[in-house]
Amino acid sequence: MKNVLRHYPRYSVQFLYPWDIRQIVRLERKVFLEPMLLAPVVRKYLSPRTRFLVVKDGPLVIAYFGYEVLGAYAHVLANVTHPSYRRQGLAQFVLTHAEPSAAKMGAKAFIGEVRLSNHPQLEVLKTIGWTKVGVINPFFGNGEGAHIVMKVFQ
Ligand SMILES: CC(C)(COP(=O)(O)OP(=O)(O)OC[C@H]1O[C@@H](n2cnc3c(N)ncnc32)[C@H](O)[C@@H]1OP(=O)(O)O)[C@@H](O)C(=O)NCCC(=O)NCCS
Repeated sequence: MKNVLRHYPRYSVQFLYPWDIRQIVRLERKVFLEPMLLAPVVRKYLSPRTRFLVVKDGPLVIAYFGYEVLGAYAHVLANVTHPSYRRQGLAQFVLTHAEPSAAKMGAKAFIGEVRLSNHPQLEVLKTIGWTKVGVINPFFGNGEGAHIVMKVFQ
């Protein structure tokens, strides 16, 4: 796995600041069939169980990963890489970099749902040790099924 911050030293990584929430909402609308809208993102942002890890290029949010810790599991809300910044290892980076902070909040594993048609995400997860543990069909609002995916922390 590429060390993104070493390859691209101008990128910065941080937890989400409130002034970047609108960028998250814009990316959600751009890439998802069923995006999180502003109010739910704000609600999640304000929840002590939720974190959004963000990578920025200057002021621009170029990747993020949101997760919500529920007992031993950190449930994936979403991870997105800005369309102009793909295939640089950013998804691998945010998903992996978030593990220690989710663990500090009590989680022992990530769990999430990926559309059956979402081959790019399934490929990313395969490269960083996530496993498919089952299928729920249908799962999403439009009737598409989901792979249930997990990463148990080491
Ligand atoms: C899926 C997504 C997050 C991948 O982001 P990314 O930053 O481009 O992924 P990475 O650069 O970390 O990819 C790492 C590896 O995964 C695999 N991969 C990533 N995208 C791929 C694609 N489109 N096709 C095939 N393999 C892919 C490759 O092995 C890649 O390594 P390589 O570039 O050296 O070949 C991005 O395409 C995206 O934002 N999609 C829309 C939102 C989404 O579906 N989110 C996930 C559901 S919550």
